[in-house]
Amino acid sequence: MTGHHALLVTGGCGFIGSNFVRYWLKQHPESKVVVYDKLTYAGRKENLHDVWGSPGLSLVVGDIGDRDLVRRTCQDHAIDLIVNFAAETHVDQSILGPLVFTDTNVRGTHVLLEVARELGIRLHHISTDEVYGHIRDGHQSVETDELAPRSPYAASKAAADQLVQAYAITYGLSVTITRGANNVGPYQYPEKAVPLFSTNALLGEPLPVYGDGQQMRDYAHVEDHCTGIEAVLLKGKAGEVYNVGTGHEMTNLEMVDIVLETLGQDHRLVRHVADRPGHDRRYSMNVDKLRALGWTPKYDPRQAVAEAARWYADNRWWWEPIRRGAFREYYQKQYGERLEAARP
Ligand code: NAD
Ligand code: DAU
Repeated sequence: MTGHHALLVTGGCGFIGSNFVRYWLKQHPESKVVVYDKLTYAGRKENLHDVWGSPGLSLVVGDIGDRDLVRRTCQDHAIDLIVNFAAETHVDQSILGPLVFTDTNVRGTHVLLEVARELGIRLHHISTDEVYGHIRDGHQSVETDELAPRSPYAASKAAADQLVQAYAITYGLSVTITRGANNVGPYQYPEKAVPLFSTNALLGEPLPVYGDGQQMRDYAHVEDHCTGIEAVLLKGKAGEVYNVGTGHEMTNLEMVDIVLETLGQDHRLVRHVADRPGHDRRYSMNVDKLRALGWTPKYDPRQAVAEAARWYADNRWWWEPIRRGAFREYYQKQYGERLEAARP
């Protein structure tokens, strides 16, 4: 990929999408970026508060399932690359209400593929390590492993991933896929573990750890995910899949320790609560294929979690209004009984 580009960044007002848009505009100021976002509870205009008004950046509010609007937006802005971040993304929400995950993650991605096929546009799809399912000790997922998703979220992402690959095989559409590990960093909605635990610690509220807390995750800094996606956009091979993570996991209890230590908070805030149904015990990916493109992560997982926790300490303006709003209803539904039952 060379020259000037016009990108449609779907889900650009979400956590990773907004970090990507900010990063891309800085690195490629000659590019045009159209953020296409439905602005769900997780999509927030303020995630890009510091870059609105930049030359070349615009916003279209819409659903990726709206074929006419997607097509018109691509035509009006002469889009030559779609980067698809748009998704319902929280496993616990997918357990509470799974259908919207199929609507957006499967059908929405399918609509983007159809428009890309119709207009001859390259599409890069953001997938996840969750498509590989639970990973046994001693193994690291490689891109050719079979997909074995276990939650409604992961299953919807696996379906999308396979539709993208089917379009490359059947229609010769130019596509690439990245499968990311657990990202942490600025502007992550506080339903996810690291921002939830950080903001709870800052509020002096209990940290609800599911089960024994020995589940393993590769907590990767969002900035490294953005540079990984950039490497694939610039140097990746059409039709290929690339894992993006640090290649190192830690247990959730180790992650909690880093959060508490970073924020100077006490261990007594930890509560072991009823586990997530079907909770995947371990994710772990081999990232050699991406490294072979010359990419290397800047943060190890310990630094990534500590940096993220510090961001929430320094940016109460961002999360306090969220925590005071509709989030409270979700929190009560998800944690009310669990925390009550785990009272010391
Ligand atoms: P997020 O929930 O913070 O943001 C999702 C964004 O998509 C929001 O801006 C939302 O408004 C938008 N959106 C949702 N439905 C839409 C629709 N129908 N049409 C248009 N926009 C819609 O999610 P995130 O954590 O930034 O994740 C971004 C992508 O990365 C997702 O595809 C996710 O599966 C993937 N991913 C996330 C992680 C992670 O750790 N967060 C790791 C690997 C992969
Ligand atoms: O692995 C990539 C995936 O990472 C992405 O595809 C998803 O979009 C993203 O949400 C994330 O999924 P997880 O389910 O792994 O992340 P979450 O932050 O929800 O949870 C991280 C770990 O912490 C997991 O083992 C569950 C646990 N957890 C989570 C919450 C919200 C708790 O113990 N307590 C909690 O309250």
